[in-house]
Amino acid sequence: MAERRPVVWVSQPLYADIEARLDEWFDVVRTPTVTDHAPEAIAAALAGADGALVTLNDRIGAAEVAAAPRLRAVASVGVGYDSLDVAALAARGIVATNTPGVLTEATADFGIALMMAAARRMTEAERWLRDGRWNGWGFHAFHGAGIHGSTLGILGMGRIGQGIARRARGFGRRGLYHNRSRLPPGVERDCAAEWVARDALFGQVDHLVLALPYAPENHHIVDAAALARMKPGATLTNIARGGLVDEGALADALQAGRLAAAGLDVFEGEPAVDPRLLACDNVVLTPHIASATLPTRRAMVSLAVDNLVAAMGFGPDAGRPPHPVTPPFDASRGSGDGGSTH
Ligand code: GLV
Repeated sequence: MAERRPVVWVSQPLYADIEARLDEWFDVVRTPTVTDHAPEAIAAALAGADGALVTLNDRIGAAEVAAAPRLRAVASVGVGYDSLDVAALAARGIVATNTPGVLTEATADFGIALMMAAARRMTEAERWLRDGRWNGWGFHAFHGAGIHGSTLGILGMGRIGQGIARRARGFGRRGLYHNRSRLPPGVERDCAAEWVARDALFGQVDHLVLALPYAPENHHIVDAAALARMKPGATLTNIARGGLVDEGALADALQAGRLAAAGLDVFEGEPAVDPRLLACDNVVLTPHIASATLPTRRAMVSLAVDNLVAAMGFGPDAGRPPHPVTPPFDASRGSGDGGSTH
């Protein structure tokens, strides 16, 4: 009798030509349209699956793991994997993987763009223009926060934080960063960035960019006290995870004019955005698109497929997925973004 092919659940429609590589090894259960899966639907899909290819919208917690007796591997498309309960997965010996590296440059580009858009009030000015309110060049219109010659701070200096620092070298000032572990001197030099303690980072920079992974110990790492430490007129940009910021406290600081502006690509309750933030003119809001270029998103899916095939024990890297986030690791391969900090 022919051996049963493993069943793999693909939680969202991704790129058909890349997903098709799964058909060589697996019976694939596809999701034809973009779907906001309820937890029970995820549990039901995983109940019959040996493997899963998921995005960060598809949360897999302890209950979903418990409902998945055959599950052996979960490949997440994205670098952040706070949507997965890695402890519950690891306890069952289920390999989880992520897709670092391939999204670094697109995400770092976006981090700089968002910081600049916020500091220079681009979307606020555009709304004003589209409203038909522009009657002539306004000498006093839309003064923003200067970027060149200012001090840029980065919280979380993994690949993406380093990419932002390298781009910011052109702004003509040394940057500051905080990360749980200090970077080797050569990397610090290359990034033109100096390590400082976290509180010092909040207090010394003109523009702060968050590029650290979310973990419960980082919850609201930017809270009212951290915001109060920031320089008057500073800006905050978040391309990491919404849960890092106390959004109510941020809205208060923006409304009071204590912070000049914020650029937010991620939100604690996304896709819902806190109405207090929506009410602020001095915040640029984007819908979690920092890695969204077509080549980058395709590379992420391709890497997730490689991860899944290998984690399930097939292909040239059988048993050695490129980017595991749960043990057993092949430490020589590296994993994660490396930017955690607390
Ligand atoms: C996106 O937020 C990611 O983690 O890749």
